[in-house]
Amino acid sequence: MKDPLTPYGNKPMVTPIVHSVNYEYESFEVLRQITDGEIDGYTYHRDDNPTVRAVEKRIAEMEHGVDAIISTTGMAACTMVYFTYLKAGDHIILFHDIYGAHYKVSLILERMGIRIDWVDAADASQLEKYIQPNTRMIFCETPSNPLIKTIDIAEISKMAKKHNIIFVVDNTFATPYHQLPLELGADMVVHSATKGLGGHNDLMAGVIVVKDKEDYEKLWFTRQAIGTTLDAYSASLLERGLKTFYLRARKMNENAQIMAEFLQKHPKVKTVFYPGLPGDPGHEISKKQMKNGFGGMLAFEVGETIEDAKTMINNLNEIYHAVSLGATESLICIPFLTTMLYLPAERRLSFGVKKNTIRLSAGIEDADVLIKDLQKALEAV
Ligand SMILES: Cc1ncc(COP(=O)(O)O)c(C=O)c1O
Repeated sequence: MKDPLTPYGNKPMVTPIVHSVNYEYESFEVLRQITDGEIDGYTYHRDDNPTVRAVEKRIAEMEHGVDAIISTTGMAACTMVYFTYLKAGDHIILFHDIYGAHYKVSLILERMGIRIDWVDAADASQLEKYIQPNTRMIFCETPSNPLIKTIDIAEISKMAKKHNIIFVVDNTFATPYHQLPLELGADMVVHSATKGLGGHNDLMAGVIVVKDKEDYEKLWFTRQAIGTTLDAYSASLLERGLKTFYLRARKMNENAQIMAEFLQKHPKVKTVFYPGLPGDPGHEISKKQMKNGFGGMLAFEVGETIEDAKTMINNLNEIYHAVSLGATESLICIPFLTTMLYLPAERRLSFGVKKNTIRLSAGIEDADVLIKDLQKALEAV
């Protein structure tokens, strides 16, 4: 049968958006071949969709994985990983400095009989003492959210392998432009593709990239069961975002480095968290495991109080006061009031997220415009 999308063999430059959620079976034999996995075919959107599938293959290549599973959001991707590999009685290690919504998910996991240790993993040598016979998974972000800590992927991968533990790295902050966790030994990579991969604040999606087909099958089973399959239109937007991804990531990295160096010298700014600064605790590890620079995310403490942080943000004109990250526009927020709000206040503070800690996601604007904006806003503090 001729492919209806390419009847003369000329392929479209853009993957068509296949809106259909249902497919007419050509025959019982074709149905059997699809069900038995002998051919790649489509039956129902919750199972698979050709637009989504094309983007999965592209992101798998970008992350040097074997395959990828796309989901409705980044948190759906993380939750699919938890649901696929964990059972009652298991123990997992989560790092303090990961996106705040994991705290909510952790409450659900605990209800299901999974035990969790929250660990500061910037020093990998401290991690082994938390490992127990029932430890099943280690999950981290590096650079982390929101304090931009660096975690030594190769070191932790070695330890995880020794104890037969699944090691998952959220690569949302670093992106594949800077870091390839699978090459460094991680078992799986997750992304909020809502961020840098999509890049335009106009879609939500998550991705899990795997190293072997068996994991793809397991995660596919979970997605098919719980129904976290992305719609074709969002997948098409994501494909479009990917076309400019490397250019955007390069510019974001340049802007982040320039802003971090500027902030570091400013008298109203106390600490700057950015692995591209030679004094940053993660600088040496980042030099080893990241390439093309150190990413588009930084954080800093301004003044002494939350009011100082609010004053600064209120006096910005070009940088948007908003959550999320990895977008064409620079975005700034106070994690204590936003991304980490779900955690009890004492937990936020004990992890080092202060009330005057500000997180900044570099966009692709002219660096001069951003520096002038920061300068003016800091004068108001
Ligand atoms: C590092 C990181 N991972 C995962 C998520 C969750 O992504 P989503 O908002 O697409 O569910 C976020 C959200 O901000 C994030 O920052």
